[in-house]
Amino acid sequence: MQLLSLLVVLCVVAVLTEDDTAPHLQIQQQLKDLFPTEYHSFPSNPSTTASSANLNGKSDYLKTLSNRGIRTSQYALISSSSTSLPDPVDLNLFVEEGLRTFSSLLPLLPPPSHSTSILELGSFEGSSAIFFSEFLLSHPSSSLHCVDLWSSASYETNPSSQTIIGSIIRGSLSDNSAWSYFTSNIKLTPNGHKVHAFSTSTFTFLTSLLLLSPPPLYDLLYIDASHVRLDVLTDAVLSWKLLKVNGIAVFDDYGGGEGCGEGIDAFLKGVGEDGEIILKGYQLAIRKIR
Ligand SMILES: C[S@@+](CC[C@H](N)C(=O)[O-])C[C@H]1O[C@@H](n2cnc3c(N)ncnc32)[C@H](O)[C@@H]1O
Repeated sequence: MQLLSLLVVLCVVAVLTEDDTAPHLQIQQQLKDLFPTEYHSFPSNPSTTASSANLNGKSDYLKTLSNRGIRTSQYALISSSSTSLPDPVDLNLFVEEGLRTFSSLLPLLPPPSHSTSILELGSFEGSSAIFFSEFLLSHPSSSLHCVDLWSSASYETNPSSQTIIGSIIRGSLSDNSAWSYFTSNIKLTPNGHKVHAFSTSTFTFLTSLLLLSPPPLYDLLYIDASHVRLDVLTDAVLSWKLLKVNGIAVFDDYGGGEGCGEGIDAFLKGVGEDGEIILKGYQLAIRKIR
């Protein structure tokens, strides 16, 4: 009888002391603690309604962005000399490739009615983050973690910045203007308050998370930071450990030449049969099997 009473008391104590904070909020708090100065969150934007754009309508999507007031440096430059909407390829490569990639991947991802956690490595002015915010974050506990140095130093060392668009970017951006575009764009998206930004290197972010016990796991990785061969390989290997089984990793610029494709190919060799390639084009997507 005494033992039973003791058990009841222990159960009551366990229930009373249990942390009933939702898991996604616990993770948020852990990350805030890990990155006290590098962490940034955004207010909710009740005046912005969810996207009416659909993945088949590139021009609908661009109009939606334009109506929201979303701008990138390319957009600002191109639209200043033109009254019509710029060609999507010029506006941002993500619009062209991202819509193509995600129209085939969306059926394989958790539906928007499910909680989805996304990690984006390399956010720049927010084009891909805006896309995720528009289409994949409608569930109240969904989240997008964006990691970028947001510093001109990281554009200079990135071979992808050596293109024409890259030189426009480098010529037109001051040290923190990519960050300014990113923050003002995210504030204009309907799910901006579910976006969490970390201004640090991908290596620092990934290794810090991997030291947590247990580390948070993601449903979707979008890898688009440094395009240097060994950097892409490192980002891929480390972030793969943070991907849920059945989760999907998407790489940008697989077909873009330079070292990016080589780094991704080396990673694919290492993954072997633990992953299944589900899309191979300019972007590459792989699902984690085990
Ligand atoms: C190609 S851009 C990302 C484009 C973005 N996904 C979009 O859709 O517009 C690459 C970004 O990666 C960032 N970057 C490069 N190396 C990095 C590193 N080691 N750690 C964190 N960010 C890095 C750069 O600052 C740059 O903003």
